[in-house]
Amino acid sequence: MDHVRAVLVGCGGISRAWLRAVADMEDVEIVGLVDLIEENARARAAEFALQEVAIGTDLGAMLDDLVPDAVFNCTVPEAHLPVTLEALAHGCHVLGEKPLADSMDRARQMVAAAQKAGRILAIIQNRRYDPRIRRFREVIASGIVGPLTTLHSDFFIGAHFGGFRDHMEHVLLLDMAIHTFDQARFITGADPLSVYCHEWNPPGSWYDHDASAVAVFEMTGGLVYTYRGSWCAEGLNTTWECDWRAIGQQGSLLWDGADALRGERVVASGGFRSELAPLWPSPAELPPLKPEYKSGGHAGVIREFIDCVRHGGAPETAAEDNIKSLAMVFGAIESARRGCRVEIRW
Ligand SMILES: NC(=O)c1ccc[n+]([C@@H]2O[C@H](COP(=O)([O-])OP(=O)(O)OC[C@H]3O[C@@H](n4cnc5c(N)ncnc54)[C@H](O)[C@@H]3O)[C@@H](O)[C@H]2O)c1
Repeated sequence: MDHVRAVLVGCGGISRAWLRAVADMEDVEIVGLVDLIEENARARAAEFALQEVAIGTDLGAMLDDLVPDAVFNCTVPEAHLPVTLEALAHGCHVLGEKPLADSMDRARQMVAAAQKAGRILAIIQNRRYDPRIRRFREVIASGIVGPLTTLHSDFFIGAHFGGFRDHMEHVLLLDMAIHTFDQARFITGADPLSVYCHEWNPPGSWYDHDASAVAVFEMTGGLVYTYRGSWCAEGLNTTWECDWRAIGQQGSLLWDGADALRGERVVASGGFRSELAPLWPSPAELPPLKPEYKSGGHAGVIREFIDCVRHGGAPETAAEDNIKSLAMVFGAIESARRGCRVEIRW
């Protein structure tokens, strides 16, 4: 296969990021755009000058007609299951927006359907494909601060969306924390075992439902991962990628989700406090960013998916793995609802 013919379904806000990313990929051809509202598909075709592209509201009919290799699923979470099942039934590989599904049962159905069809089903977790998170992960894996014992993440953004999110239940955990939890799995290489979560809506919040949460996860290998987050915290906002603190047996690392990476490690111990030395005392000494991830974000995930469709292999965000990140979201919601620690299963 020298190039991949794809139909994109769901021509809303996020479809722009996809069409921008594939515009630079010579081995990807968008052959069709589908949306329940035909006008949305037409608007996107005009915006990206896709004159030859088929436009429609009926995905099944378009797949019968065009027989594409892949479907890009950019629909709303409730539609992720039906759109994916339809695409797999037509023999297509599927790359879909996060979250994989709007419930664990539906996510399991999707993973099983992809396995049965022998097709790739993968999810956009664009925050993994930033070269700076790759560097943070590699520094931890190098053992420079000893074996990792603890990971903390902070996400605080006063986000005045003004749309459906203002009225959505579990808005922070469902809509945003999937990114952070997936990042935590990516950084540590560990899988979740259990979670205790407290969710609340602070006084003065402009959301109808809980927009703040704290969660403590037990992970494999004895690792503890904690999350503190809010979408109604005014001031001193973090990056969308979070502030991270990684604690190893011989030192600690701080990453601000952007360019700032700092660390200290033990050079001598025995006193009340160990003697510590800074890692990379000046930013110029930081390990270089790997150029292959400079495409970043959506382009990085789409690139990996297309390479796997063309040459074989499994993308790192394949649904059978990504379901573990989704299980952290639904585990946290269940814990908050029941007010106790719950085991995480997928
Ligand atoms: N990766 C990211 O950083 C990121 C950012 C924003 C949104 N998202 C995700 O992208 C998805 C879409 O979000 P959005 O902001 O573009 O939403 P949106 O409401 O702007 O657009 C969704 C579009 O899908 C269409 N649609 C819905 N159901 C459909 C169906 N069954 N068949 C065909 N079309 C259908 C709607 O008509 C609409 O045009 C969500 O899952 C969201 O979580 C991801």
